[in-house]
Amino acid sequence: SLDNADNLPGSIVRTVQHTQKTIILNHGDKDTRFASDTYLIQQQPKSLFCSPILNQGQFIGILYLENNLSAGAFTQERVEVLNLVCSQAAISIENARLYEQSQNYAKKLECTVQELQQTQQQLQKSFEELKQAQLQVVQSEKMASIGQLTAGIAHEINNPLSFISGNLTFTDDYIQNIIELLELYQTEWLSPSEKILNKVEDIELDYLIEDLPKSINSMKQGMKRITEISKSMRTFSRGDTVAKVPFNIHEGIDSTLLILKHRLKASVTRPEIEVVKNYGNLPEVNCYPGQLNQVFMNLIANAIDALEESNLGKTFEEIETAPNQIILTTEIDSENQQIIIRIKDNGMGMSESVKEKVFEHLFTTKGVGKGTGLGLSISRQIVEEKHRGKLTLTSALGEGTEFAIALPL
Ligand SMILES: Nc1ncnc2c1ncn2[C@@H]1O[C@H](COP(=O)(O)OP(=O)(O)O)[C@@H](O)[C@H]1O
Ligand SMILES: [Mg+2]
Repeated sequence: SLDNADNLPGSIVRTVQHTQKTIILNHGDKDTRFASDTYLIQQQPKSLFCSPILNQGQFIGILYLENNLSAGAFTQERVEVLNLVCSQAAISIENARLYEQSQNYAKKLECTVQELQQTQQQLQKSFEELKQAQLQVVQSEKMASIGQLTAGIAHEINNPLSFISGNLTFTDDYIQNIIELLELYQTEWLSPSEKILNKVEDIELDYLIEDLPKSINSMKQGMKRITEISKSMRTFSRGDTVAKVPFNIHEGIDSTLLILKHRLKASVTRPEIEVVKNYGNLPEVNCYPGQLNQVFMNLIANAIDALEESNLGKTFEEIETAPNQIILTTEIDSENQQIIIRIKDNGMGMSESVKEKVFEHLFTTKGVGKGTGLGLSISRQIVEEKHRGKLTLTSALGEGTEFAIALPL
């Protein structure tokens, strides 16, 4: 900018800039070095002072003064003052520069701090997501192995099941035929030998003929039960589907109850837990069946835990008079286009402070090895995030708890 200023003697300014030495022209003398300077030719200043402003040897500016009225204006004395002014100016300019620099640093620092804060927030978020994912993996691994086990057993049972049930039908016919034949003998062969009569008495033939069809019948009943169990096991272990599929919710709950049956049974300390089903008339619901079964499993297992805890310190007879109950209710809420599944127990219930935290990751009131604190947080995720539904609870300490799963239709 100094170079193309036309209100300054360019040649003098440049010389000062290069040599870093003061130039004083006191008598309008014709210094040959600047003879061709257009500014000097036009303005013809009588006295002129041009000095570099240096800060620790660094050129940072120029002080230029001229006087058009009198020659010899820049006396020794005045030049000393001007030199002082120059060094003061150098300090002021440097201060201003430093100030600006520090302002810039401050701004940059502020930006950096903001960026850091953002990064930290993102990290925190990633960490939460990772934690969530990890818990999900743990739980779904567990569920997957239960699923695989039940699917495997169901598969293995299926073969022997089908040949027993196939043969049972034949056996029924064969035995019917043999009985008919025996009866024919009895009517046609009027004088059997002593040996035969003894044997008839020995084996209580009349009773046997009467009882055999009954025992075959009960075998058939047993077969039917096993077939149902096997079917339930396959329903429960329905693998995770990529897309939602129509699913009979009641079959899902029933198959879950079957898997938990051993926990519902009577023991030496308490009678069997009563399971009351108030099933409504539900349509099939589009969902991920494996995941919903996981939710039913978590909620029913929690109910059993709560009942067992409420039994502590009570005798078998005391429990019998106010029996442990799990009530399963399903209904359509057509107003809100959803179905509601309620799982209610009359166990120990929850305090207000527990109620606030039950859906948190890793929150458990159960002992080490008993509770993981994963069940409810994962159940809520499955219901709310995977199915766009709602998982809520009502509970009162000492009275029991009800969880409600709402699923959109
Ligand atoms: N039906 C219930 N009755 C009383 N308390 C319950 C019930 N279901 C859950 N809870 C409380 O919520 C906590 C968290 O449950 P959950 O996430 O399934 O973890 P966990 O069963 O491993 O403890 C339990 O430890 C218990 O205190
Ligand atoms: Mg649980």
